[in-house]
Amino acid sequence: MAHNDDQILSNTFVLAPEETPNIETRYRRIHTPLPAPETISDLRRAAALFPEVNCYQPPIIWDSAEGFTIKDRAGNQWIDFTSTAVMTNTGHGHPAIREAVTKHVDSGGLMGQFSFASDIRIELAERLVGIAPDHCDKVYFWTVGSEAIECALRLAREAGIRQNAEKYHVLTHQADYHGWTLGAHQMSGTSASKPWLATPDSAIHHIPFPQGDSRESGNTDWSKFLQKSLSPLADLGITAEKVCAVFIETMQGWGAVPLPTGYVKALRKWADENDVLLVFDEVQTGFARTGKMFAHEHYGVRADLLCIGKGLTSTLPLAAVLGPADILDLLPPAEITTTHAAHPVSCAAALANLDVIENENLIAQSVRKGNIAAEALQKLQERFPDVVREVAGFGLLRGIHICDPQTGELSRELARDWTWAAVKHGVMLFQVNRPSIKVCPPLIIDDAAIVEGVEALGDALASILK
Ligand SMILES: Cc1ncc(COP(=O)(O)O)c(C=O)c1O
Repeated sequence: MAHNDDQILSNTFVLAPEETPNIETRYRRIHTPLPAPETISDLRRAAALFPEVNCYQPPIIWDSAEGFTIKDRAGNQWIDFTSTAVMTNTGHGHPAIREAVTKHVDSGGLMGQFSFASDIRIELAERLVGIAPDHCDKVYFWTVGSEAIECALRLAREAGIRQNAEKYHVLTHQADYHGWTLGAHQMSGTSASKPWLATPDSAIHHIPFPQGDSRESGNTDWSKFLQKSLSPLADLGITAEKVCAVFIETMQGWGAVPLPTGYVKALRKWADENDVLLVFDEVQTGFARTGKMFAHEHYGVRADLLCIGKGLTSTLPLAAVLGPADILDLLPPAEITTTHAAHPVSCAAALANLDVIENENLIAQSVRKGNIAAEALQKLQERFPDVVREVAGFGLLRGIHICDPQTGELSRELARDWTWAAVKHGVMLFQVNRPSIKVCPPLIIDDAAIVEGVEALGDALASILK
């Protein structure tokens, strides 16, 4: 598609450099217009080469990143509030991970491994089983989160149809995100209309997301809420004995929205009564991000299967399904395999990453720094009550839900404009394509950088509301 000359990203950000405030602090340095003039020819090359679907982030060419800061080659520097799509939990290029990866490569470990075993893969699997819930004694490795979800879908259906031939229906919540592959995408509420699907999976169903008047249950009877959500399905003949699993995005990523604990407990009870598996999608929320090793721990319920990825390595691609042998062993040898899963170099990164989480007490740090972020964000909400409708989340996974002050409606456009203004103020954000901004810095961020970054978000918003 042809681009307007000034418009590099067809519906998002423009290419023409815009004036920026000159910023020089310990953490931020913005000293060119943005996009930086010297990067524009490369941004044009990117727009010519990459499909539009991939061109929606702020037009900054990341040159290097270390810890919780990102630099471009013009010498601008940002506080990173993205963790690269909530992935770099231990920060960019942690020295321990660099060393482990380099050592492994130098020792002959740069090999594809496919389904052969290796010491490092075994060591990682043992380590994961050690931190997983007690009943999870096997690890099914994949490369990206979407594949882990796809695998869990397959396993859940295998488990279901062994109980009864019609137990293959799967439930998820409206507006969940579970990935892009065929099954995962159909379980996701994004791109709600999917006209490209010739034969949509008619056994995937989206039940209402439990938004009560209070997240902590309040007066809502969550068992009743659940029954009400399930009754339209029952009317179609899809009763509990036909449901094999509920997939739960442990906190809805778009706005860091947790489910009410009372609801998850009600779901657990119903699942136990009806032999339904609860599959927690912890791809985004795992590995200390929310102040627990896995976010479902906030709800105090058992997870039958866990899907993990992203923060497992904080860098190289690696994902997995964790679960009990009686489910993970349901597929016969060679039924589904993949070439790159659990690449030894990714395993080396994951082991070092787990060491960092443990040695640097990142679970406790995530709680403590999350409280600092929450306090700063509350001040932001008090400063802009007409724009900041809500700040949600736990630990260092926070979402600001954004309203247009004129209309009072949730606004993606303002979220996009605020994102760009924040980048011009030295805070790296990513576009979520929803009426929200996510504040999810690496867990090793300095306390002062959290506060400075949130204050800069306020300055950025003020600059566009003028
Ligand atoms: C909750 C959740 N599940 C699944 C995925 C898909 O993971 P991946 O992008 O690695 O395929 C994501 C990615 O953002 C996610 O946030």
